[in-house]
Amino acid sequence: MASVEGAAKKHEGNVVLVLDFGSQYTHLITRRIRGLSIVSFCLPANASFESIKALKPSVIILSGGPHSVHEEGAPTVPEGFFDYTQENKIAVLGICYGLQLIVKVLGGEVKQAASQEYGRMRIKTTEKTSRLFGDLAEPSEQVVWMSHGDEAVKLPEGFNVVARSNQGNIAAIENTSISVYGLQYHPEVTHSELGIEMLRHFLLEVGGITADWKLQDVLTEQIELVRSLVGPDDYAVCALSGGVDSTVAATIVHRAIGDRLFCCFVDNGLMRYKEQERVMETFNKDLHLPVTCVDSTEQFLGKLKGVSDPERKRKIIGAEFIAVFDEFSTKLEKELGQRPAFLVQGTLYPDVIESCPPPGSGKSHSHTIKSHHNVGGLPAEMKLKLVEPLKWLFKDEVRKLGELLEVPSHFLKRHPFPGPGLAVRVMGDVTQDNALDTLRLADEIFINCIKEAGLYDEIWQAFAVYLPVKTVGVQGDKRTHSHAIALRAITSQDGMTADWYHFESKFLAEVSSKICNTVRGINRIVYDITSKPPATVEWE
Ligand code: XMP
Repeated sequence: MASVEGAAKKHEGNVVLVLDFGSQYTHLITRRIRGLSIVSFCLPANASFESIKALKPSVIILSGGPHSVHEEGAPTVPEGFFDYTQENKIAVLGICYGLQLIVKVLGGEVKQAASQEYGRMRIKTTEKTSRLFGDLAEPSEQVVWMSHGDEAVKLPEGFNVVARSNQGNIAAIENTSISVYGLQYHPEVTHSELGIEMLRHFLLEVGGITADWKLQDVLTEQIELVRSLVGPDDYAVCALSGGVDSTVAATIVHRAIGDRLFCCFVDNGLMRYKEQERVMETFNKDLHLPVTCVDSTEQFLGKLKGVSDPERKRKIIGAEFIAVFDEFSTKLEKELGQRPAFLVQGTLYPDVIESCPPPGSGKSHSHTIKSHHNVGGLPAEMKLKLVEPLKWLFKDEVRKLGELLEVPSHFLKRHPFPGPGLAVRVMGDVTQDNALDTLRLADEIFINCIKEAGLYDEIWQAFAVYLPVKTVGVQGDKRTHSHAIALRAITSQDGMTADWYHFESKFLAEVSSKICNTVRGINRIVYDITSKPPATVEWE
């Protein structure tokens, strides 16, 4: 991850490293710290000692995690870790499991707690002056978010308790002489009322960090990096999906190498209503990106005819995409006299950072790298060198970067759309009846109603699904036998879990009547009221 190491070097003296022990909040810690204008990276807890040292961090945070320090094989810090942090004057903060690990490794005692502490709890600072709390020791009582079953019962030599929970358990510890600190609660979670202030105080006052990192710097750095990577006679290609990530990545690369970047947008016939026109307009008029639109509708639909199995559909679409992209590159090779050597991808940080596997899963870190939905998943045989300018950014940062690059805000706020497109929203054969066009119209009406009601930005994803069943209806004086459409709208943080969106019934009634009155071939609308789990977001 050259770009991460490069950025760490550039910001040496102000880098915060978060070691991930598997907490669901680990990425949130990194994001909160970046939100404080401080450079922060995340490494899995069992990353090699060399990779930790290579980032030259000034502060290391040991995250929470689902393990117990007593479990066999529970993740820990490398041998000699605290000698290294002392020698290099690195401040260490353990959060939850991180605190327990500090206590155990440095010779104290951790036990299963008699009374477990979950959710909102109150803590009291025990010292009027402590380095860890500083001015935040007043007021002495604060609400925090806890989630732990084990507790520290005996501290290692040199450590003091600086806060306790209302139940009397240790809530915060410090050893100022070796600059090692611990919080039994989660400051990164907004339910901890002074949490962000605590992080800021710790990083600036205890860790000596200067908070002067800006997203604009990332832009400048990445443009320079792309220029140094792609030589003056080299060309790069990029497959645009119409999504935020590939668009922002391509725009950065375009700023760096200009029209030596060639983008292609493949219309596979499985796009939303007027999608091709809309995205091409943004690419051309708003962003001035060099994009070729390849309309391969017939090729994709021909291959999908008669196919009902969702995974087969996905495989066919993936394979066709590779074929189209390969043809695009071959054409370019003929025109340019050389094959483009670089491939631009909108890979994000959560796609590349490994998470600490859960206890008992029998997995090591190398098993848990998220298999991400890259545009088409281009194969290694294409021998393209990757350019990934978003590789150390989170989604919200990419949106902000998009704003800096003047990507229109309606584009940046678009709901996610799956790579296989409407193929996973028409149940069964996508070529049946007039399914795709019918679905496109119904979907467009639903989305427009959501936008008009001012609800679009509250919803993570909303869409219509074409059901392969025909139901009886009555329209005018005639009985009908037509298809049904399901509507789905969800709220979510990351698509991994989701809740269905609670529309007012009046809103749903209006959408239902609009669709049935406008879209030929539809006489029934149902609304999906299932969360994920047990359902998934998409129906296929
Ligand atoms: P599920 O249905 O797995 O969806 O709960 C979670 C998120 O992933 C999207 N999704 C996909 N994206 N290729 C993609 O690029 C796919 O095959 C795919 N399947 C689901 C889905 O839209 C949701 O945002």
